[in-house]
Amino acid sequence: MRTLNVALGDRAYPIHIGRGLLDRADLILPYLKTKRVAIVTNDVVGPLYLGRLQAALEAAGVRVASVVLPDGEAHKDWPTLNRIFDMLLAERCERSTTLVALGGGVVGDMGGFAASCYQRGMPFIQIPTTLLAQVDSSVGGKTAINHPLGKNMIGAFYQPKLVLADIDTLNTLPARELSAGLAEVIKYGLIRDPAFLEWLEQNLEPLMAREPEALAHAIEVSCRNKAEVVAADETEQGERALLNLGHTFGHAIETGLGYGEWLHGEAVAAGTMMAAELSRRLGWLDGADLARTVALFERAALPVRGPTLGAGRYLELMSHDKKVEAGKLRLILLHALGKAVIHGEAPQADIAAAIEACCG
Ligand code: NAD
Ligand code: GLY
Repeated sequence: MRTLNVALGDRAYPIHIGRGLLDRADLILPYLKTKRVAIVTNDVVGPLYLGRLQAALEAAGVRVASVVLPDGEAHKDWPTLNRIFDMLLAERCERSTTLVALGGGVVGDMGGFAASCYQRGMPFIQIPTTLLAQVDSSVGGKTAINHPLGKNMIGAFYQPKLVLADIDTLNTLPARELSAGLAEVIKYGLIRDPAFLEWLEQNLEPLMAREPEALAHAIEVSCRNKAEVVAADETEQGERALLNLGHTFGHAIETGLGYGEWLHGEAVAAGTMMAAELSRRLGWLDGADLARTVALFERAALPVRGPTLGAGRYLELMSHDKKVEAGKLRLILLHALGKAVIHGEAPQADIAAAIEACCG
């Protein structure tokens, strides 16, 4: 097992990465206030892993309640969130009960948001079961639900007490979901870790084949990058925004097509190519940099072009982005491969041209 620390003072927490961790109630017990947990999962992950986790906790004397939500991004909404509160109240969960989110980023984001609100805040633990959740969404305390007008628009910063990433759970993940997770892994290389970018170029096949050593390394390096950024800028006053490379374009794809049509990671991959193309137009990247980025996404079986919504529609959707300040769109762009910047001065015509160049 590998362990990293998210250095947030008295709210610091560990990330354990390894195999067979679902059965390790001993890793969870030190973080419980009382021997009660409420597990939030969904109807895909629940049948696979809820029984094992519940059995391990109950064998350790923990009382377990659970709720199984409908699967999918389309259910990352108020009515589904409310089902978590229904369960917590029906089971008479207390403020000291620990909420455990068992699933991908959708379950983690909703479970975390519920934990931030229930009785004004209950402790929570992330047990991510997708690659995307293990390298990104379970770490850093961003929690949210979607609104029809914008993705992740309603939420809170609320840190977990522990992240437990069992890489064995990735064996049941559909190939398309594994690729979606790789988009966020590649993101860390592109924004701040050129050595990791090279490692990914050399090790993409073992990753796609789910070799445990390769996965564990990629998850560890990704989480280390994320933990460093979060520790420096927990509430995204500056540097943390760099983690959103490709996301402003990508969120427009997700919202524009309807949630769940494209996977989040797929939208991020195509969105990253739009950001890279805009960076080229600004003179920061060259054709070889773009070719290198396209090649890596394509080897990861990710889309490198967005759907044809029209640049005007993209820009309208992007105007809801959380990085908009005083009405001005700020984008994460690339000064070089491995060095992202926040940029608010790109001419609208260049943004539109970059979108058009990367669609269809
Ligand atoms: P997801 O949660 O929808 O999971 C993908 C699919 O895989 C689902 O059908 C899920 O039920 C299934 N699944 C999960 N684990 C499985 C397993 N082990 N075996 C088989 N199937 C499994 O999607 P995701 O890609 O994990 O997360 C995407 C979400 O995360 C988006 O809503 C995105 O906005 C959010 N996100 C949040 C952050 C953050 O910092 N909070 C960061 C990135 C993304
Ligand atoms: N996924 C972006 C962030 O956590 O800030």
